[in-house]
Amino acid sequence: MRAADISDQITEVLVTEEQIRAKLDEIAARVAADYAGRDLLLVGVLKGAVMVMADFARALPDVVPMDWMAVSSYGSGTKSSGVVQIRKDLDTDIHDKHVLIVEDIIDSGLTLSWLLENFASRGAASVEVFALLRKPEAAKVRVDCKYVGFDIPNEFVIGYGLDYAEQYRNVRDVAILAPHVYS
Ligand code: PRP
Repeated sequence: MRAADISDQITEVLVTEEQIRAKLDEIAARVAADYAGRDLLLVGVLKGAVMVMADFARALPDVVPMDWMAVSSYGSGTKSSGVVQIRKDLDTDIHDKHVLIVEDIIDSGLTLSWLLENFASRGAASVEVFALLRKPEAAKVRVDCKYVGFDIPNEFVIGYGLDYAEQYRNVRDVAILAPHVYS
């Protein structure tokens, strides 16, 4: 479904499916060139990254393995604590592997900052990040993100994997959720 199908629940379409596809092709070409001759492992962070991982992996010209992690923030009862709990760990031993973390969005940066440290401690040969979306104004910590799709304003966005209360992940475009939906 498209964002236009829920026009009463959004205020603006920020990134269309067509823009996402074009950007994924562009980044896939860069990644293929950057990792030529190296064993690449894609790691998706559930659940938001499901859509971007599916489309990005298929845009790559080479066979590439995928693994998944599920994490949740806890401590002090808020997401902003920066403390992360692993709900599903990798199935792969990433020691000496070249890992590319695939994320739908960098908001505060706390999740990725924790993941980067965690992966480094497991002895990965390299760890880089591809985030489809990034909210520069929401950053609480600086995260080195080698591949960024789109910088977006600090608004509540849904679609293309991003949810509000588990809804809207299957919208093909990224859009700003109308405040009347969540207030
Ligand atoms: C979202 C997103 C990132 C994280 C980014 O996941 O997929 O993993 O938040 O936020 P941060 O930069 O402030 O740490 P969420 O915890 O909403 O889970 P979900 O992917 O299952 O929707």
